[in-house]
Amino acid sequence: MCGIVGFAGKEEAAPILLDGLERLEYRGYDSAGVAVLSEKQGLQMKKAKGRLKVLRALTDDGRSLSGHVGIGHTRWATHGEPNDVNSHPHLSQNGMIAVVHNGIIENYLEIKEFLISKGVSFRSDTDTEVVAQLLEYYYASSGDLKSAVYKMLHRIEGAYALGILCVDYPDCFIAARKDAPLLLGYGEGCSFIASDVTAILKYTREVSYMADGEVAVVSASGIRVFDAMGLEIEKERHTVDWDVSAAEKGGYAHFMYKEILEQPEAIRKTISPRLKDGHVFFEDLKLTAEEIRSLNRIFIVACGSSYHVGVIGKYNLERLLRRPVEVVLASEFRYADPLVDEHTLVIVISQSGETLDSMMALRLAKKLGARVLSIVNVVGSSIARESDDVLYTWAGPEIAVATTKAYSTQLTVLNMLGLYFAETLGTIEPAEYAAIVSELQALPARMESVLENTEPIQYLASRYFNHDSVFFIGRNLDYALGLEGSLKLKEISYIHSEAYASGELKHGTISLIEPGTLVIALGTYTPLFDKAMSNVIEVKARGADIVALTTESRCADMAKTAENVLAVPDTHLLLQPSLGIVPLQLFAYYVALQRGCDIDKPRNLAKSVTVE
Ligand code: M6R
Repeated sequence: MCGIVGFAGKEEAAPILLDGLERLEYRGYDSAGVAVLSEKQGLQMKKAKGRLKVLRALTDDGRSLSGHVGIGHTRWATHGEPNDVNSHPHLSQNGMIAVVHNGIIENYLEIKEFLISKGVSFRSDTDTEVVAQLLEYYYASSGDLKSAVYKMLHRIEGAYALGILCVDYPDCFIAARKDAPLLLGYGEGCSFIASDVTAILKYTREVSYMADGEVAVVSASGIRVFDAMGLEIEKERHTVDWDVSAAEKGGYAHFMYKEILEQPEAIRKTISPRLKDGHVFFEDLKLTAEEIRSLNRIFIVACGSSYHVGVIGKYNLERLLRRPVEVVLASEFRYADPLVDEHTLVIVISQSGETLDSMMALRLAKKLGARVLSIVNVVGSSIARESDDVLYTWAGPEIAVATTKAYSTQLTVLNMLGLYFAETLGTIEPAEYAAIVSELQALPARMESVLENTEPIQYLASRYFNHDSVFFIGRNLDYALGLEGSLKLKEISYIHSEAYASGELKHGTISLIEPGTLVIALGTYTPLFDKAMSNVIEVKARGADIVALTTESRCADMAKTAENVLAVPDTHLLLQPSLGIVPLQLFAYYVALQRGCDIDKPRNLAKSVTVE
């Protein structure tokens, strides 16, 4: 959830670290800090509660700190409230060692007690401080930093990505990783570490992904990597092809808005390399036709919006494959006793590829013998690396905490996977297959037409932005769509909002509907359009304000009952949510804008949830 960046080179480190942290701020933004080392001035550290701009002001944009080696951190608090003291880096007692950390040290209390009994005093409430203090403790007895690091790593339990500076080693810093993302970057006469490649993309595209248990010694002249046993290893290097400008706002007020607009292009990039002569193919898929035929059950496992993609996937895949498909929250799956065996395919969906619950669900599925296929946006991420198969969503970097283009491309990949499996299993008629493929190709253009007509959505947002409770109702794919529409609204505008399957209204929810309650009624799933209309009539009779969303072909019918109607172009039934989601994303965006919310960095949230 936090962001780490480290630099060793010939230039001044602090401005480069601040620049990297700015690009990582979406990972955590309650406080930030940097520490740099120079032979003359030793270790200098500045940290502060609040956004990065506070740290920038405190350090004169980094100019007040001098040194060519340094580490930086942007925090999302887990242990200890967000304040100056709990911000990273954390120093050891004698001030010789500075540490930045992402993850959670689970046994920190026990280690803290042990160190206190040895006379160590602590400054912060964080779990991270024990890393710095324990390291000092081991270093004091051995005088060898690398072996002290290994001793410390053997003692701590939990998840960590670490950057470590030591005054006695002014030319380098140390990095270590377990269950939290960290990559190494190779520049010209300089080296980096980062939680996320966007932090260093401006300087290098050559990276390696650290694996669990590895330790790296990072200096201007290069990076040496050691495995969990301390043996030096060669890391495979990858070239990142993301465009730097994709991770910048490019004149837009918010990343979220820019990313909403990028969706048609992202979908085009996701679809086009996988369609040939009217058929879906996945170049890198190792799963054979025989293996697909041997599957008797599919699980889709994910969190948040990725889970909502899975809910749509359940409806669509069951329809296409006539096989049982279950969608389970990763945080539930990992502690359940799921019925998984070697004839089960577990599809893990994750934009970041680093979500801890999804990662743990993946490991459990593999342990139980299932085949794991992941749908991931970040190349080389942990989930991608541990899966048997990975299908990338080519959405490019997604910076806003609220996902939009990653959601849309995940949905596209999942639908394409459904088509591919259905053709392999012979569970789809050729004419139906061709119709879906053709609509898939038309999807980006249809989405563009939705994005060209945002005024009605803006108008509705300005009319309803001050409501304090909103209900999204719909059936089947519209219910799944409502889940995501509701999450978008609540996470960025802080309006309480719930999504319900319309059929459940009479089982309790309708008692909450009173004059002036805002109900977003979804009627894009045309086979159940009449039922959607009946539900609109029901809630209207209780005085609800209605914003209805349907397809162009049903717009006139819907307008007979609902006073506000938004419409998206008609497409194949299975693809309709891909269009329906766009007005809901925009509605959430404009409502949050009206309410003056911090759209790209909503309170209490982080982009990549690498803790439980
Ligand atoms: O990176 P992941 O797709 O695994 O993240 C899962 C959720 O944390 C994520 O989808 C979250 O719900 C979104 N930021 C909501 O917009």
